[in-house]
Amino acid sequence: SVNRSNNVIWQETDVTREIRATQKGQIPLTLWFTGLSGSGKSTLANEVEKRLVARGFHTMLLDGDNLRHGLNKDLGFKETDRTENVRRMAEVSKLINEAGLISMVSLISPFKKDRDDAREILGDSYIEIYVNTPLKECEKRDPKGLYKKARSGEISKFTGISSVYEPPEKPHIQIDTSKYTLEEATDLVMKQVLEYLS
Ligand code: PPS
Repeated sequence: SVNRSNNVIWQETDVTREIRATQKGQIPLTLWFTGLSGSGKSTLANEVEKRLVARGFHTMLLDGDNLRHGLNKDLGFKETDRTENVRRMAEVSKLINEAGLISMVSLISPFKKDRDDAREILGDSYIEIYVNTPLKECEKRDPKGLYKKARSGEISKFTGISSVYEPPEKPHIQIDTSKYTLEEATDLVMKQVLEYLS
């Protein structure tokens, strides 16, 4: 991997990722929720996490919006910032997996190249969940009033309106939340997630 310093050498640890995960009795995957703003990513990820925890899994949820208040507070929404946002989230998720935890990431992650890079960072742990609720429905929901602002030009480069969302071609799991109740959608995603976790 690229490193700006010549004098940094990777240190192996005796307690490995496998040992940490085995102690928790689970396979440390990253469940990567991608989709438009208002598609239901965070709501669904929240429900799935509750179900996993109820079943005894050890999890950690990273929400794009929330991380932008801390670790990613220097980033905006231009293309290079989104790319850096996705890269950091993938690296943090990798650390969470190394701690033996199931990581859940809720991030628009609109560009295919960036998601491919995340997959590269996370390897086989990366499970892509495409929340493919149609733009029309997301805009109708508009829970934060952002689509309205994007349409009026008050917000520029808004995903789906003035900035592109490149749909995943082969997600592991996909769900259109406009077709189901939250409970049904959670059931459907959980069923598939549990297959990857077994
Ligand atoms: S990205 O593209 O992956 O870096 O975006 P992410 O970190 O998931 O942040 C998305 C949330 O930021 C709010 N927001 C915007 N989204 C898209 N485009 C623009 N220009 C923008 N400005 C602010 C918005 O509330 C997103 O929240 P979610 O939870 O996805 O609805």
